[in-house]
Amino acid sequence: MDKAKIIGTGKYFPKKVLTNEDLEKKLDTSDEWIRTRTGIKERRIAGANEYTSDMGYKAALEAIEDAKISKDEIDFILVATLTPDYIFPSTACLIQAKLDIKNTAALDIQAACSGYIYALSLAKALIEQNQYKNILIIASEKLSSIVNYEDRTTAILFGDAATACIVSKQKKGYEIESVYLGSDGKEANLLIQPAGGSRNPATHETVEKKMHYIQMSGRDVFKHAVRRMIEASEKALSMANLKASDISWLIPHQANLRIIDAIAKRFTHLDKEKIFKEVVYKFGNTSASSVGIALDMLKKENKIKTNENILLTAFGAGFTFGSAVLRKIG
Ligand code: ACO
Repeated sequence: MDKAKIIGTGKYFPKKVLTNEDLEKKLDTSDEWIRTRTGIKERRIAGANEYTSDMGYKAALEAIEDAKISKDEIDFILVATLTPDYIFPSTACLIQAKLDIKNTAALDIQAACSGYIYALSLAKALIEQNQYKNILIIASEKLSSIVNYEDRTTAILFGDAATACIVSKQKKGYEIESVYLGSDGKEANLLIQPAGGSRNPATHETVEKKMHYIQMSGRDVFKHAVRRMIEASEKALSMANLKASDISWLIPHQANLRIIDAIAKRFTHLDKEKIFKEVVYKFGNTSASSVGIALDMLKKENKIKTNENILLTAFGAGFTFGSAVLRKIG
C-alpha cells in the first residue's frame, strides 16, 4: 500500500517581535530568568487585525507552492488550533473561503499543542483509505489573544505563528511511517482557559476574574510533558518497527528548552545539531504550530538525507500527546 506523504510545507510569522527585554519593562522578570528556565529569547505577536485564519492562510499558500500542486486539488482542509477566530464557524471554513477552493471539506481539530500530530494521524488515515487525495493541514495560533500579560508565569512563554503542509500519495516527500496519539483528561485543569465555552460563558464576572486567559500549573505540566512525549515516542517507534537509534532527527514540541533537553536524553546517539531547538529560542511556544514550523525549517535547510527517519513529538493541554515517524523518500 502506498503510504501518505508530506509533499510540501510552509510557515508564517507575524512581524512584531516581543523580546525578553520588552517583558522586563512590564513584569517582575528578567531576560536571564526567562532564558535559563525556558530557552526563549523572543516571540512574535500578531497585529490587532491579524487573526488565526490570516496567518494560517499565508502558511497554506507557502505549503501549496512548495508542494507544486494547484489549490483546487485540495479536497480536505484540517486546521489545528486552540485559538480559532470564533468558537464557530470553524477556522478551517474561513481559510477555505480565503483560498477560494470549491470542492473541499473543512474541519478544526482541538488538541492544543499536539494538534499538528493529531492532524497528521487523521490525514494519513484518510489518504491511505483513498477517501481524499490532497489534504491541507494548517496549524495556526494567536496565543497572544488568550495570554494575560500581567501574569509573569505564562506571559513569557507563548508566541503567535502558523504552519501548513500538504499530505498526499502523489510525488516525493516525507512518508508518514507511524503516528501514535494519546490523552489524559484527568489532568485537564493543569492547563486551561476556564471561560468562554458553554461551562463558563462570558459574563462581567468571568472577565473580572480573568478566566478568559491561559491558566497553567507550570511545574506539573513540565513533568507530564517530558514523561508523555518520551512514552509517545517509544510507541510511535515501535509502531514503525524502529529503535531509537534508527532516528536521524528529533523534532520535539518547541515549548521549553529544558523539556527538549530532558527528552533528548533518551536519544543519546544523536549529535546536538540533530535535535531541533531553533524555534523555541526565537518564537517561544507556538502551540499547535510548533513542530510543523520546525519541520518546515529543517526541511528547507536541506540537511535531511534520503531514507533518514525524523521523529516528531508533542504534548499539550487536555492533556494530549503524540509522536510521528517520518521518512524522507526520493
Ligand atoms: N520571572 C521571574 N520569576 C518567575 C517567573 C518569571 N517569568 N515566573 C515564575 N517565577 C518565579 C515563581 O514565582 C517562583 O518564585 P517563588 O519560588 O518565590 O515562589 C519561582 O520563579 C519558581 O517558579 P516555578 O514555577 O517553580 O519555576 P519553574 O522552574 O518550574 O519554571 C516554567 C516555570 C518555566 C513555567 C516551567 O515550569 C515550565 O516550563 N513548565 C512547562 C510549561 C510549558 O512548557 N507549558 C506548555 C507545555 S504544553 C503546551 O505547549 C500548551
